[in-house]
Amino acid sequence: MLQGRHIIDASDLSVEELSTIVNLALKMNADPEKFSNLCKGKILATLFYEPSTRTRLSFESAMLRMGGSVIGFSDAETSSVKKGENIADTIRVLSNYAHIVVMRHPREGAPLLASQYSRVPVINGGDGGHQHPTQTLTDILTIKYYKKDIRDIKIAICGDLLFGRTVHSLLKTLSRFPNIEFVLISPSELRIPYHLKNSIIEKHNVKIFETTSLEEHINDVNVLYMTRIQKERFFSEDEYIKLKGSYILTPEKLKHARKDLLLMHPLPRVNEISYEVDMDPRAKYFEQARLGVFARMALIALLLGRSH
Ligand code: NCD
Repeated sequence: MLQGRHIIDASDLSVEELSTIVNLALKMNADPEKFSNLCKGKILATLFYEPSTRTRLSFESAMLRMGGSVIGFSDAETSSVKKGENIADTIRVLSNYAHIVVMRHPREGAPLLASQYSRVPVINGGDGGHQHPTQTLTDILTIKYYKKDIRDIKIAICGDLLFGRTVHSLLKTLSRFPNIEFVLISPSELRIPYHLKNSIIEKHNVKIFETTSLEEHINDVNVLYMTRIQKERFFSEDEYIKLKGSYILTPEKLKHARKDLLLMHPLPRVNEISYEVDMDPRAKYFEQARLGVFARMALIALLLGRSH
């Protein structure tokens, strides 16, 4: 039962619940009209304390496509935060104004704190370098859409695995599906956090291979998930500059990949995928962003108890 729940961490959703969301999202994608009044009379609040394009607007689009309404802010500077209001007070008040809330915050744990004071479901729209569960819903929906099943997949995840919250949520989620193998490609400074790696291996006994080389592994994976180096989480500009060109995917490198590769990226892209790659039929990151609207529609509807 998803109704009334908070979605803060990727592990808040069981594999069965993930499948329920993905299946509803696929139905919504196939026939959006049918769901155009599903959330009539309901209000979504978007509280974004950190920049966002896709996540905020795809949540808004999702709610509007189901006949609901949206309130919120995308710049904390113009909200009462500026006057020194804390998250607990903000959410206590805002959860009287909306039926469901999505929050993005630069501090890890902020949406969890908010959920403890909220009368309505809180969805984590990304908290610092920690988690981003609705990007993961988007990602697994994309895998299901193109690969038909979320099993027996070798996935390479490349880029900033230390600070990339989409990566953390994706690893936590995919590791619970059958026969998933990970190739984790990053500069040695940006490897996945040790505790995350250990907990995944210990709990789910999945295969993880860590490497610094994209070229050596691009040829034998079913999915390649590129990510940007997370500039805003670095302590020094110099360190960022040193690492920002670590991986650049070009048509030349893609020549060695499988014909049926699924190439993903949560976006925004900086320089890690060259623009020529966009023409390649295996590049699905813009489709992935499109599917994200349906993933969020399904999630909102289920949390509001409005799935049918
Ligand atoms: C991601 C994020 O905010 O973590 N963006 C998104 O929501 N699609 C990825 C990123 O910023 O690199």
